[in-house]
Amino acid sequence: MDQNGALDSLFQEERVFRPLPQLVIEANVNPQELEAYRRQAAQDPLAYWEEAADELDWFKKWDQVLDESNPPFYRWFPGGRCNIVYNALDRHIETANKNKLALIWEGEPGDNRKYTYYELYRAVNRFAGALRSLGVAKGDRVALYMPSLPETVIAMLASAKIGAVHTLVFAGFSPKALRERLRDSGARLLVTADGFYRNGQVIQLKPLVDEALAGAEAERVDSVVVVRRTKVDVEMQDGRDFWYDDLVRNERNEAPTEVMEAGDPLFLLHTSGATGRPKGILHSHGGYMVGVHRTLTHVFDIKPTDIFWCTADPGWITGHTAVVYGPLLAGTTTVLYEGHPNYPQADRLWHIVDKYGVTIFYTVPTMIRMLMRFGVQYPRRHDLSTLRLLGTVGEPIGPEPWMWFYKNIGRSECPLLDTWWQTETGMFMLAPLPISLLKPGSVTKPLPGVEADVVDRDGNSLPSGKGGFLVIRRPWPAMAAGILGDEERFRREYYEAIPGGAYFAGDVAKKDEDGFFWIQGRADDVLNIAGHRVGTAELEAAFGSHPAVCEAAVVGVPDAIKGEAAKAFLVLNPGFQGSTDLIQDLKRHVRGELGPVAAIKGIEFRETLPRTRSGKIMRRVLKARELNVDPGDLTMLDQE
Ligand code: PRX
Repeated sequence: MDQNGALDSLFQEERVFRPLPQLVIEANVNPQELEAYRRQAAQDPLAYWEEAADELDWFKKWDQVLDESNPPFYRWFPGGRCNIVYNALDRHIETANKNKLALIWEGEPGDNRKYTYYELYRAVNRFAGALRSLGVAKGDRVALYMPSLPETVIAMLASAKIGAVHTLVFAGFSPKALRERLRDSGARLLVTADGFYRNGQVIQLKPLVDEALAGAEAERVDSVVVVRRTKVDVEMQDGRDFWYDDLVRNERNEAPTEVMEAGDPLFLLHTSGATGRPKGILHSHGGYMVGVHRTLTHVFDIKPTDIFWCTADPGWITGHTAVVYGPLLAGTTTVLYEGHPNYPQADRLWHIVDKYGVTIFYTVPTMIRMLMRFGVQYPRRHDLSTLRLLGTVGEPIGPEPWMWFYKNIGRSECPLLDTWWQTETGMFMLAPLPISLLKPGSVTKPLPGVEADVVDRDGNSLPSGKGGFLVIRRPWPAMAAGILGDEERFRREYYEAIPGGAYFAGDVAKKDEDGFFWIQGRADDVLNIAGHRVGTAELEAAFGSHPAVCEAAVVGVPDAIKGEAAKAFLVLNPGFQGSTDLIQDLKRHVRGELGPVAAIKGIEFRETLPRTRSGKIMRRVLKARELNVDPGDLTMLDQE
């Protein structure tokens, strides 16, 4: 039997994978140590996290590890003074890391730029100086509408260094979505680029910024910094727009690092919820750095020689934690790629792994499903022998893509670490370590210091094998500090949806008889399209703003590559007829409203939508019909 055949039968019989003995010997955390951490964290979680905080540098130690006096607004390390950038950069300049590569950036055309810790430190200081010259001060918000460029990382760190709060808006969002997020954040300064390379094309970005900032609704943005990437002609508005290069040219290589309270905000990141308005999730310096540092170094077993590549865009939480802050806090080398994974061919990612000797490769299941389609001939063209760990995040990974990734990319030797976490959690929550037993499709167990459970609607713990809601019972350091400007929503959505006071993650999950967790998907009206959260309410509002649409209901339907895709059911206004032209126009319209993230798989025109007697649209009924399954209890259904 060949190796693949042997693995297949192992998978069939046991569905459990054990790490190679050598890996266990070399791991930073061995199985006994992991058990000891678990025990310690269960007995005295605050002592566990205090020890984790002690691994980082503080300007002043905390008065208390956790202030639980005003739940759910938990305050970690109150009285402590720190700055995450001091830990991600400044302290490395004093060690052998000074001349180690911090960042390897690869442009889509094949150009690259590399920064040692010292070079990145200096670049960050220069931009920090530029921000200060433009009047940005502690507490101000700095928005970034950026592709994956080194300046994205630099601008994030420079903002944090001077105590400003960065807020990234993914470059795939539309000008309208950008405008909404700018308004919500109250950003004074926006950093963007002239454009970027994607799939062999130049995608212009600056005109989208101009569109977002135009119009009657005056925005608070008074300065726009433009990074020159593509050299396309852009219009610069006198007094408002500045070239990045001009600003940093005369700045100094040193800049003071602002001393922050542990609870001071570090960044704001919008994510979709069950209502039409995206929520601005806030994270703070102290707790976030402690939680991210501890979990990333444990899960990915960071060694001094690692080259760490997380394929996420910095514009999502995965980019914040696993491209920028986590790897730099850990003193490792992080890789950032600008372009499309299939450009010029479906082996681009493997080419990059080979070119830089990537040792840890972390991606989303959507990417794996897509690359799986192209076939094994692409990875086989490259030397992937440097890889030692693989990881996934963002959506459930089925056994088939798991096996493909494990066998064909990981040579059946690299542990595949499926990590569950969220924008709101900031850090990895449920995940294996390289020494853990793995079951394909399971995120295994909560990390030490994380107390997770599966409960019913009333908050009662469910026995193994029963599906229910995933909750986190105790606070953890990298937890969101709140939703910007909406304390009530934070309390209601995360802490009151399920009785008992635990954090409700919005996911459905179950535990098996070994205590392994299996995540089954979202419990709310949020779609997970290619690992990105998109609210059905946001999509419905976007459809609703088209003149032809009277009413819209959107549901998620399975998609072979993206995991989930959006299907819309529309009732048209009088005088409009459903047609292929209208479908095209509607798709274009929604894309214009929300950006390319809002991929619409199908549109169906209907006379009415199913509703409850109180008038609520029953998406469940539409979805069940679409999938040909039992819609469940229909006693609430009024009419169609
Ligand atoms: O539904 C879960 C899914 O992604 C959601 C969080 O999305 P976001 O805040 O955008 O962060 C994504 C990356 C950290 C979760 O509520 N999710 C995340 N990781 C996994 C997952 N679903 C299954 N398995 C995972 N490993």
